[in-house]
Amino acid sequence: MNFNDKLDCDKIKENLLCKRIGTDIVIFSSTSSTNDVAWEYALNENNDGLVIFAEKQSAGRGRNGNRWLDEPGQSLLFSVLLADSDFDAETLSLTCAVAIAEAIDKVGKHQVKIKWPNDIIVNSKKLAGILIESKKIQGRNSFVIGIGINCHQQKEAFDKQIENIATSLDIASGNVCDRISVAKRILVGLDYWLGKIEKNKKMITQQWCSRSVQLNQRIELSYNGKNFIGNCIGIDPQKGLIVQLETGGVRMFDAGHCSIIK
Ligand code: BTN
Repeated sequence: MNFNDKLDCDKIKENLLCKRIGTDIVIFSSTSSTNDVAWEYALNENNDGLVIFAEKQSAGRGRNGNRWLDEPGQSLLFSVLLADSDFDAETLSLTCAVAIAEAIDKVGKHQVKIKWPNDIIVNSKKLAGILIESKKIQGRNSFVIGIGINCHQQKEAFDKQIENIATSLDIASGNVCDRISVAKRILVGLDYWLGKIEKNKKMITQQWCSRSVQLNQRIELSYNGKNFIGNCIGIDPQKGLIVQLETGGVRMFDAGHCSIIK
């Protein structure tokens, strides 16, 4: 099926009320991974805030070494470059999840939830994922925020292993979404929330808690190859997920070394 929402720089930039994010936008019809392209642009600090979109990726990647697979034009696949940022990685991760969940909420009036660290969940299924990478480049702390959002997929478009745990905006709404409007909402949301990181950690934490699928739930996770089971009792913006362990004691788990088992 053809959709009438081919990505277009001018349309995305039109009335985009952002201070830092999306002042420059580059769109590829096909590339390896938008995160890789963003890292090339990171060599020049003037590219701060640049957003790279692609209609198709041949080597899209997800967290924990997973691949991120997509058919052309079905998703929003993009990366945001922060070329010089002293953000703490854990806080940045929370903030991006909150910003994207809120933006998607506004688009479709869905009940959008967050599964720590970075899965965006609608109707108990994964709608979007975020992969944040960091590097020191010429003495600057740089981040690339890679975002993949399922938009036009129908159930049968997903691989068998994920068809029962993945969803798309079109499935969730029963309508056809407009990827350009969704992209604009997300860039505005990221711009707003990234502007709040330094002074409003408490507000970000509250927002995260109100959307968390794991808060007060039993979770199993793997940290540096070791498994832990416990009850999720909160989130610390710098140290990560706070878990009351079944074996006793409370422990914090940062997103960089952790994957959720259940
Ligand atoms: C995850 O849930 O594991 C994170 C998935 C992130 C996928 C996006 S698609 C755009 C950007 N480029 C990539 O190679 N990955 C991210």
